[in-house]
Amino acid sequence: MSDLDISSVAARQVWDSRGRPTIEVEIHLAIGASGRAIAPAGASTGSGEALDLRDGGATFGGYGVTKALAGLRDEIIPALVGQPADQQAHLDSILADLDGTPQFTRLGGNALIATSLAAAHAAAAGRNMPLWQSLGGTTEPLIPVPEIQIFGGGAHAAGAMDLQDFMVVPFGASSFREALEWVAEIYLAAGKLVSQRGLSVGVADEGGFWPVFESNEKALDSLLASIESAGFDPATQVGMSIDVAASQFYRDGAYQLKAEGRALSPQDWYAQVSGWVRSYPIAMIEDPFTEHDHASHRAFTSEFGSRVQIVGDDLLVTNRQNVEAAAAGHTCTALLCKPNQAGTLTRTREAFDAAKAAGMGTIVSARSGESEDTTIAHLAVGWASGQFKVGSFTRSERMAKWNEMLRIEESLGTRARYAGGSVLGRT
Ligand code: PGA
Ligand code: ZN
Repeated sequence: MSDLDISSVAARQVWDSRGRPTIEVEIHLAIGASGRAIAPAGASTGSGEALDLRDGGATFGGYGVTKALAGLRDEIIPALVGQPADQQAHLDSILADLDGTPQFTRLGGNALIATSLAAAHAAAAGRNMPLWQSLGGTTEPLIPVPEIQIFGGGAHAAGAMDLQDFMVVPFGASSFREALEWVAEIYLAAGKLVSQRGLSVGVADEGGFWPVFESNEKALDSLLASIESAGFDPATQVGMSIDVAASQFYRDGAYQLKAEGRALSPQDWYAQVSGWVRSYPIAMIEDPFTEHDHASHRAFTSEFGSRVQIVGDDLLVTNRQNVEAAAAGHTCTALLCKPNQAGTLTRTREAFDAAKAAGMGTIVSARSGESEDTTIAHLAVGWASGQFKVGSFTRSERMAKWNEMLRIEESLGTRARYAGGSVLGRT
């Protein structure tokens, strides 16, 4: 047995930020080092994602993970003991082969991603390196521009607003530390604005305010007002960003705007979204159309792709083939990169590399169901993604990632480089 070989693996049920069960895997090496990771979970999931294996039934709302834990105990753990933790592609191919299904429906993407990421942590600990460095290899580290939610809607707020995320992108800051300071002021300004207007209900799943605006435009107006009243210029300092998550409210051939009580045909919806992009300082827009409508994505990208970053989440589900097809078909300009959509770190990397090779943007992203796990902060820096999406600016499962990025930035000292406006084609 060599030093970095896996000597033992533990898997346990822990709890995520929605109070639902999830899986933590802890990998120990012969050398004595260890690493662990917790699987996150989405609520607005794309149809092609790796599947979270859940028990169903009444217990814990059907979200139990005893089946996934049994697969770990009976199949995954015995196959990993004795394997080298620093051979990530080899380990991930063992996992994929064991499962044997395209979307990891047998052993569960949740079991696989926790195992895959835990191995990366163990290897980094065994090499005595920070995770970002161990993941990045020879890539020069890059501190990403955060994309931070101010208002939450969609599936994360019981459909109180149709659009899912109303976010800000502080691309004009000079460092991550400054970027967070700017966003803290904007979050504060947004809170004042919604409470003055009597709109505040609480916070949505990712920590953003959950006001009940009478229309999606009112939410966009309030986002812009929050940026400006905090004293920032949306054109040069802090841009607006929306995750439409359109698949969530597309039904029976129309976009069903519950918050506004109307349904729009695909043509009318296209005109609506185009109008927003024309009239607001929107720097990024995610999943503007239902994931199966490639024609609208293509038309929109050709019309607006040179000045607005068009992000594919449900459209791409962190899948290499989908990224390659999107690059060839010009259906978006950036990949939202979520490791648990892919199911293993190696598959995540394949999608990421395909996006980079095509000149697309890359945004490493959390899920709406999260934990204290900060793996993705290291992934963003080590892989030099340039962009990073975690949710809002409250709740510790979000702040854990922002704070980890501050630590990484500080540890890099003069080597720390903030990606800034270049990732959005601005200087
Ligand atoms: P999800 O939301 O984790 O519920 O999918 C995040 C997103 O849509 O970007
Ligand atoms: Zn999304």
